Amino acid sequence: MTEHPATEPAAPDRAALQGARVLLGVSGGVAAYKAALLARGLVTHGAQVQAVLTDAAARFVTPAQLAALTGRPVPTDLFEDAHRIVHVDLARQADVAAVAPATANVLGKLAHGLADDLLSSALLCLDAPLVLAPAMHTEMWEHPAVTANVAMLRERGALMVGPDHGPLAGGDHGPGRLAEEDAILDAVAAALGPSTAPAQATASTQPTAGDEPLAGLHAVVTAGATREHLDPVRYLTNRASGRMGYAVAGALARRGATVELIAGPGEQPDPAGVTVQRVETAREMHAAVLARADVADVVVGAAAVADFRPAETAAHKRKKGAPDETEQLTLVRNPDILGDVGARKRPGQVLVGFAAETQDEEAQGADKLARKGLDLIVVNRVDAPDAGFAVDTNRGLLLGADGTRAELPLMRKDALADRLVEAIVARLPSRDLPQTNADR
Ligand code: PMT
Repeated sequence: MTEHPATEPAAPDRAALQGARVLLGVSGGVAAYKAALLARGLVTHGAQVQAVLTDAAARFVTPAQLAALTGRPVPTDLFEDAHRIVHVDLARQADVAAVAPATANVLGKLAHGLADDLLSSALLCLDAPLVLAPAMHTEMWEHPAVTANVAMLRERGALMVGPDHGPLAGGDHGPGRLAEEDAILDAVAAALGPSTAPAQATASTQPTAGDEPLAGLHAVVTAGATREHLDPVRYLTNRASGRMGYAVAGALARRGATVELIAGPGEQPDPAGVTVQRVETAREMHAAVLARADVADVVVGAAAVADFRPAETAAHKRKKGAPDETEQLTLVRNPDILGDVGARKRPGQVLVGFAAETQDEEAQGADKLARKGLDLIVVNRVDAPDAGFAVDTNRGLLLGADGTRAELPLMRKDALADRLVEAIVARLPSRDLPQTNADR
């Protein structure tokens, strides 16, 4: 991972495009002509590009042009080769899909599950990351219906790139311009992520003995939210789903580490090769983590731990008083799990936190990094619709106790976890691998 003391963003690794099967959807806006340049850019980076045009797109750019650039026939019609269910094949054969330009019409259809042509039908069958590069006139982009559709698509994990602010068709100027080719290439590479890049897929999902750089390493990861009970039916909690912590646990396990995941309640499936212990309250999580922290080489706190709990948990359901009566709730502080691990940190151990912020994030993150004795902290904003809590994507700032600072642009949580693991590995003392921690 590239870390810089300066502030410029780290460029996503375009090597992920090498060999990747990209479904390139082109919908009908003036910017459709730029899809030809994008197709050429993807091919130049080694991607296998399958372009699909809507009828309207074919008025701006020809199937023949895209076929010549990608080396593959370009279908436009759902029924032209009906015996082989083209839309299903297109979706299944894609490692990633990108729609550029994505018109308001395509965004709307996708948000609402409509499939009335080849592109929209293929996108509804897609089980791969999706990048959307909207382009349209400013009035359309700012229409509440489009805003709502975009928010919905982001929430489902689509990566949005652009639109940019600039000259538009017809001499207008404003937001709605298709993002630059470089930004779209970076977004497609980021969506693929190091863990899903075809060239690395075998290694990352099925490590072999010689391909386990973290064999012998013991990691403890926390994930999800905690619940602090008021009575047998009510509790205080937050929106964390556990996805970020599960992704970190999976990324460490794929590299051969022995990983114990201490997770709050949730529905995430257990990551392959990871031991999962379920807890409910901050105090249970504290006890579980502290019991393992001394033998762990790496501790990662991705859980959103409740800082406070009700001073008392009622044995029975609390009753409401008279209608005009107010209810006082006394809260007491929960233990600081990472703070306590940091206080007894042993040499060589790598401690990592996450900071969930809504303002002044860098200063807040730097303060938590120092106060909890951490080596690394990922500062992520939790007030954006496409990052933080309960979505598949995240972005942030990775701060190191050694003064390093790296931007983590919007990417899938598993890709961000891979980037974090690279930074952790760079901080581990050199070891004779493999080894065991059993006698520590
Ligand atoms: O689970 P997801 O839906 O994928 O969402 C991911 C996430 C937003 C929860 C995650 O990326 C994240 O930001 N996790 C940290 C949330 C948090 O509690 O932040 P904080 O700034 O309050 O705490 C800072 C660090 O101290 C965190 O590493 C936290 O785990 C730890 N902490 C906090 C309180 C406490 N009592 N004990 C702790 O160890």
